[in-house]
Amino acid sequence: MIRQPIVVVMGHVDHGKTLLQDKIRGSAVAAKEAGGITQAIGASIIPLDTIKKICGHLLEKLKLDFTIPGLLFIDTPGHAAFVSIRKRGGNLADLAVLVIDIKDGFKPQTIESINILKAFRTPFIIALNKVDLLSGWRHEKKPLLQSIPEQDTGVQQELDKKIYEVVGKMFELGFESERFDRVSDYTKQIAIVPTSAVTGDGVPELLMVLTGLAQRYLEQKLNVDVKGAAQGTVIEVKEEKGLGKALDAIVYNGCLKVGDTIVIGGMSGAITTKVKALFLPAPLSEMREKRTKFKSVKEVSAATGVKIVAPGAEDVVSGMPMRGAGNDLEAAKDAVQKEVKEVLLETTQEGVIIKADNLGSLEALSVLLKEKGIQIQKAGIGEITKRDISDAEANYKNNPLNGIILGFNIPLPEGLPPQVKAITHPVIYKVIEDYEAWIDETKRQMEMSALGLLIKPCKIQLLKGYVFRQSNPAVVGVEVMQGTLTTNIQLMNRDCKILTAVKGIQQEQENLASAEKGKQVAVSMPDVVVGRQVKEGDVLYSHIPEDDFKKFKEYKQYLTADEKDLLKEIAEMMRRNNPVWGV
Ligand code: GTP
Ligand code: MG
Repeated sequence: MIRQPIVVVMGHVDHGKTLLQDKIRGSAVAAKEAGGITQAIGASIIPLDTIKKICGHLLEKLKLDFTIPGLLFIDTPGHAAFVSIRKRGGNLADLAVLVIDIKDGFKPQTIESINILKAFRTPFIIALNKVDLLSGWRHEKKPLLQSIPEQDTGVQQELDKKIYEVVGKMFELGFESERFDRVSDYTKQIAIVPTSAVTGDGVPELLMVLTGLAQRYLEQKLNVDVKGAAQGTVIEVKEEKGLGKALDAIVYNGCLKVGDTIVIGGMSGAITTKVKALFLPAPLSEMREKRTKFKSVKEVSAATGVKIVAPGAEDVVSGMPMRGAGNDLEAAKDAVQKEVKEVLLETTQEGVIIKADNLGSLEALSVLLKEKGIQIQKAGIGEITKRDISDAEANYKNNPLNGIILGFNIPLPEGLPPQVKAITHPVIYKVIEDYEAWIDETKRQMEMSALGLLIKPCKIQLLKGYVFRQSNPAVVGVEVMQGTLTTNIQLMNRDCKILTAVKGIQQEQENLASAEKGKQVAVSMPDVVVGRQVKEGDVLYSHIPEDDFKKFKEYKQYLTADEKDLLKEIAEMMRRNNPVWGV
């Protein structure tokens, strides 16, 4: 049997995801088909007949033999995670709708959604929502392709402009896209459907494109065994009045009955439990009469959302795989844990520590980091713990760049030790961006402090008439011509012969550690006698070890033009004796 494709609605906050689904449900109710709509937990199922009714002639034009029973929309927060939530052999979402506010355009979570859809290769379409906000837009109660040409020219132009802005942005992000009716190849181009969740404009077209895509490209994938043991994914764990902790799950394969033994993936081993009760949302009318939100059912079959009451549910985290034990409990346990481990254990010896609020968001973060070549040493679900912090401290000891914990959708812990850095954010790509900025800055600081340990290039001239002491040690007034003079370095002449060292630097009776270009200071130099090895007016250079010179070359972005010139001059002198010096 073919099940409904699972459609996840994604997009930036307030762009209209919920209202658009309300409108779809509203249209379904308005279409007054028998069983116009089934409310499932965190999901609504719109049957094919209802879609046909809403779409009118639109669907017939596709000339497809429809076998899919309808569409199942997942309507729940944390949408980003849902695309990445796994099910056997793929992701929970079969299709996605990316909602973009026509006025607001691309926002952080829009881009995040696109990155996730891309990483998980989820087919999607764009609902360019709130078209009713285009100034002068008239709701015509007609199909979009008839109503658009009847809008004022200004409105039509504005709509086209907005669509092409989206096309441009999508192109930058690596996708071809086009207004849905101009799409020539749905496998290559993303369809853009202008919609309004307020007037309902574009809603039939949106359903038409989704249904067409699912029927044409996903039919194979949607084959299920409705009688087999259930396979599903926990999407939320909620406290429910009178029921205690209950699981909202999407069942995408098989059938789940009260009394079934089920296993659910866990952080430390599979959780085995028995289904005590199953609930679906009560239809609106029933809810009013009986004042109950849920109606109890004996069984459900794929694809649907369902509330499961089962003892031991407290320890379950959302995003975890779930399955009916059937007649092989051990096999079911192995299967769920294998799925969990795929997310948790694809880690390396060295790298960063990552945490997220559920299994789906953890997987999304991990995949996007790996795409960037960022290695993950440990991945876990939940808030950052003391254990994570001490692990990060240990990582720091091996490599300061790995003393970091990245968290998606979890709070920032307080009181971190100085070596450990934590970055948390509710938008994945902000986590990654902040991490990359931190890496750059930390690398820069490490390089800067490495630079500080190198012998600095310096060129000085012994000033005429400023010999304060001839020898033991010689004390002479000098001018720093280029670079920085520092104490405890060796000085050489133009022939690269090391003559002396800088024992001390003084200016107006004060000891200095260094002196910049242009400064005139007194320098004490052991092992030379002024008038013999050195004379007034001589030019001396710092003697730079070859390794230090190579380091300077490596970090040349931190050097001034003057320092670079001087290093070049010194290298040329050194190369007169050794042509490959510093190469
Ligand atoms: P979150 O769940 O918070 O991420 O937001 P959402 O994307 O679900 O947005 P929601 O559906 O809650 O809509 C946000 C606001 O935009 C509400 O005030 C809606 O009434 C309004 N809105 C949504 N769709 C439309 C539309 O098509 N036209 C107009 N004019 N307003 C809309
Ligand atoms: Mg919402």
